[in-house]
Amino acid sequence: MKLKILVTAGDGIGPEVTNEAVSVLHEVAEIGGHKLEITAKRIGGVAIVKDGSPLPKDTLDAALASDAVLLGAVGGNEFNSLPPDKRPEAGLLQLRAALGGFANLRPAFAFKELAVNSPLRPEIIDGADILFVRELLGGLYFGAPREWNKAKGEAWNTMRYTREEVARVSRIAFELAMKRRKKLTSVDKANVLEVSQLWRATVNEVAAEFPAVTVEHQYVDAMSMHLMNQPRNYDVVLTENLFGDILSDESAVITGSLGMLPSATIGGKVNLYEPVHGSAPDIAGKGLANPLGAILTGALILRHSGALEAEAAAIESAVRKVLEQGFRTPDLARGNSQGLPVLSTKEMGAKVRETVKSQLLAASR
Ligand code: NAD
Ligand code: IPM
Ligand code: MN
Repeated sequence: MKLKILVTAGDGIGPEVTNEAVSVLHEVAEIGGHKLEITAKRIGGVAIVKDGSPLPKDTLDAALASDAVLLGAVGGNEFNSLPPDKRPEAGLLQLRAALGGFANLRPAFAFKELAVNSPLRPEIIDGADILFVRELLGGLYFGAPREWNKAKGEAWNTMRYTREEVARVSRIAFELAMKRRKKLTSVDKANVLEVSQLWRATVNEVAAEFPAVTVEHQYVDAMSMHLMNQPRNYDVVLTENLFGDILSDESAVITGSLGMLPSATIGGKVNLYEPVHGSAPDIAGKGLANPLGAILTGALILRHSGALEAEAAAIESAVRKVLEQGFRTPDLARGNSQGLPVLSTKEMGAKVRETVKSQLLAASR
């Protein structure tokens, strides 16, 4: 198997966490005899500074010529006064649009070992295993018109969806629900917004193609509460773009840290893989970042772009093993009364690498 991956590490902790993800991928590929061709290009703030654009043309061209793109994170405080279309984040949104993936899969899995890290009681989160399917190319992020009219002292954005855009992401969410616990919760604000009424009607139309899946609809405000009260109630959670952005960060409370969450965006020309977290300027460059979200994102590359299910599962199982052995990064060390070893970003990456290596070698014997 040959896989061409473009790494756009970006800003802040992006390079720190993607380095670890890439080194785990190299280890797995080497053992399995798979060829990984990895190139790196700039995106985000670092690209604004060096190339004058948050998404330089050679980055976009390389992305379109890859089998998969692994993004670290973009953004930094020094760009905060720029308008949205000039910011590092604009580079990521342009990349998403160009690659065309519209279904952003954000699994939130509560590792038992991290229960103490969550402010929620262990019996609430134990066994929680949610797959958010976030629509990624529509809604307020891309709807027109959009403007901040300073003279008028008025600004507007447009939350817009077509029936086709809702149907295609719904279909992916239902297909995934069929492979899981066959329950789908669609999130909207249909008590207030026409766009959510279209969303709900379309989800119901697609639901008719999947009679085995139990469907429920929740308003986003109530859903944000239910998620914390009874996370185990949810299997696949289907949302529009902004609601999914917000609820997936909220799910970090269930998993113990934002640094644990991976994502994969499918359905377009080239799949895009990104940990859910951002560039974390508050901890960047200090070796404090948790690389596990990025490493688990690497596993998703193998699963969705390489059809290497066993290798993907091996990475996930190595992450579990490392947590079972008690290794933590600082964000996972809350309530660490037992004095568990707290590792740097690089040390955590190395632990996962060693563990996946010994697991794969043992399995091949
Ligand atoms: P953030 O996700 O960067 O950080 C939120 C909090 O979580 C911070 O306290 C941070 O230290 C912590 N955190 C995040 N990832 C962590 C990790 N791997 N290990 C340990 N702790 C971690 O969100 P923010 O502070 O709101 O945004 C910072 C910048 O990142 C902004 O410019 C924002 O636009 C950008 N952002 C980018 C992406 C992306 O590129 N995919 C995603 C979200 C935010
Ligand atoms: C995410 C981020 C991005 C989003 C930003 C940086 C554009 O928050 O991937 O969750 O809002 O989609
Ligand atoms: Mn986000």
